[in-house]
Parts: sequence; C-alpha cells; structure tokens
Amino acid sequence: MITTDFPIIQAPMAGSQGSALAIAVSAAGGLGSLPCALLDPDMIRAELSAITAATSRPYNVNFFVHREPPVDEGREIAWRTLLAPYYQELGVEQPAVSRPAGRTRFDEETAAVLEGFRPPVVSFHFGLPAEELVRRVKSWGSKVLASATTVEEARHLERHGVDAVIAQGLEAGGHRGMFLTEDLSTQMGTLPLVRQVVRAVRVPVIAAGGIADSAGVRAALALGAAAVQVGTAYLGCPEAKTSAVHRAALKAPGAEVTALTNLFTGRPARGILNRLMREIGPINASAPAFPLAAAAIMPLRAKAEAQGRGDFTGLWAGQHVRQGPDLPAAELTRELAS
Ligand SMILES: Cc1cc2nc3c(=O)[nH]c(=O)nc-3n(C[C@H](O)[C@H](O)[C@H](O)COP(=O)(O)O)c2cc1C
Repeated sequence: MITTDFPIIQAPMAGSQGSALAIAVSAAGGLGSLPCALLDPDMIRAELSAITAATSRPYNVNFFVHREPPVDEGREIAWRTLLAPYYQELGVEQPAVSRPAGRTRFDEETAAVLEGFRPPVVSFHFGLPAEELVRRVKSWGSKVLASATTVEEARHLERHGVDAVIAQGLEAGGHRGMFLTEDLSTQMGTLPLVRQVVRAVRVPVIAAGGIADSAGVRAALALGAAAVQVGTAYLGCPEAKTSAVHRAALKAPGAEVTALTNLFTGRPARGILNRLMREIGPINASAPAFPLAAAAIMPLRAKAEAQGRGDFTGLWAGQHVRQGPDLPAAELTRELAS
C-alpha cells in the first residue's frame, strides 16, 4: 500500500505534536503523522510545507470528522453550575456561554489545502467525511485510513472505500474514534478487536491501543495486523510538543492509571486519572457535546497549569505508558521495530 521501512505509524496527537515529530518518524523509516484538529488552514499549509521540505518519505495527515453541535444554553449553564466551586476555588471568572473556537473538521476548505500537497496518506477519526470528499482525496493518489472501534465500524469503513482500517482498542490514549455507537460498555480491547477485524475485512488492518514496545508490535503483527499505530509512547520524545504538566504526569507514579472521560471535550477519551475526573467523573452526563465541553474547563485548566498542576487538563494517555528514558523519535521508532 504505502512503503515504509518499518510497519510503525506514529499516531497523530492533536495538541501534543506538530511537523517536527512527524518528520523525525518519517525520516527514520516509520510513518509520521500531522494532526490537524487544532490547526487552521494556514497553519496546515505551513506544517505541510515544513514536512515536504524536510523529507521525501511518506507521511500521514489526520483530521477529525465530527458534527459541530448547536450550543445548548441550558446544558451549558448546568455544566458551569457544576464547575462553580472550582471557579471559586481557583479565583477565575465563570466563562460566558458562547461558541468556542472548536476543532477543525475536514471540509472543502481543508481539502483544497491538501490538494496542493497530495499527501501520501490521509487519516480520519470519528468516521469518514462525505463520499465526494473521500473520492476527492483518493483522486490525488492519497491512501485513506480511518479508525474503527468495533467490527461493525470496520466493515462500514471498508464499504466506504478506506484503504486500511485502524482498529483502535479500548486501551488507546486520546479520543475514542467511535462513530456508529456511543456505547462505551461494548467497546473492545485491542487484542480481540484486531483479531476479529482482520477476519471481517479484506483491507489491511492497523492495530492501535496499548502498544508501547517491540513485544507489543510483534504481538499485533502476530494477530494479523499489517502495521501498528503508536501514540502515547511518542509523547515523551523531545520532538513532541507535550506540555510540561502532561510530561510530568506521564513520569509520575500512577501514570498507568487511566480512565475514559468526557469531561474535557464532551467525547470519551482516555487520560491519566486526575482530580476533576475523580471528583465529578470520569464520565458526567452534564458535559456538553463535543467539542463544546472544553470551553467551560479552559480557564480552570489555564490557571492550574500556570501553577504546574494538571487537575483540569485532559492528560491523554493509553493504558501502556512507556517506561525508561525518553528517546528521540527516530530511536524510539527503531526500538519499536526491533
Ligand atoms: C495525546 C493524544 C492525542 C491524540 N490525538 C489524536 C488525533 O488528533 N487524531 C487521531 O486520529 N487520534 C488521536 N489520538 C489517538 C491515536 O490515534 C491512537 O488511537 C492512540 O494513541 C493509540 O493508543 P496508544 O496511545 O496506547 O498508543 C490521540 C492519542 C493521544 C495519546
């Protein structure tokens, strides 16, 4: 499909990395990824220019595919009321109800930016964009990948033309890519999901979730995966933009104690258990729909982070946090592939 030296995809991690990590991984023989969920079209163009100037190796560009929900004022007020004791404790003003900056979705405008670069691989999270957009991406010769969290989602993606399915097990750090179901109780671990998706679809399957060393890579390949997508293990790399608070949490005792939470964005995502998750979550029905929940948390997060605390931050991490010294991305890629 796409030829790289190693069957290792560095997972796109919005907010924690940009082109530098992608370049290092692609240049080392893996597939580096550029997450675009928090970039505007000009930033995407600048990052893609940096990648194509630095390496001629294949790379992946990643997008969220979500619907922007309407602002539900009642729900926003209930959410702020729940958070009121924290605004008081931290001495920050309760933010007004308004539409936050949100997340970049894949649409005509972002497609036009990509068209100038014809990236070798484009990947999607939370389903696929409209069929004509998928056709447009494929017409440049780009290979299309998308995350599936159930066997049914994998079959759906294959029917809609993906070139490979990313089977994202429950162990994975960050947002669950679920799009045909909202039921967390039936989500599967990487091992049974990969094995059953391999049987269910004809396209290659990429295993994601809880893979942090070469033994995990070998296990995924033994299950029939054509490649792996590794996120959390790359968060410690010097090329990543992981915040100081996030890096400290990954090193602290208890970093392996993660949970699925909807508090920070409104969609379930796996992160290291922290104060807000313990006190009002980790799942709370009052959280507004993705990505609106983030707006009310933002001032708490900013104030706490300024004091070196991650109490109100989504500290995204999978269930397997890599131990040992933080390696440069090229070395980590080679280690995973060894
Ligand atoms: C910090 C962080 C941010 C993430 N952001 C994205 C993203 O922007 N797009 C995406 O498709 N997946 C994202 N993911 C999920 C990864 O694609 C992948 O499923 C996950 O990292 C695999 O599990 P692991 O973290 O245990 O290796 C993110 C994961 C983490 C840890």
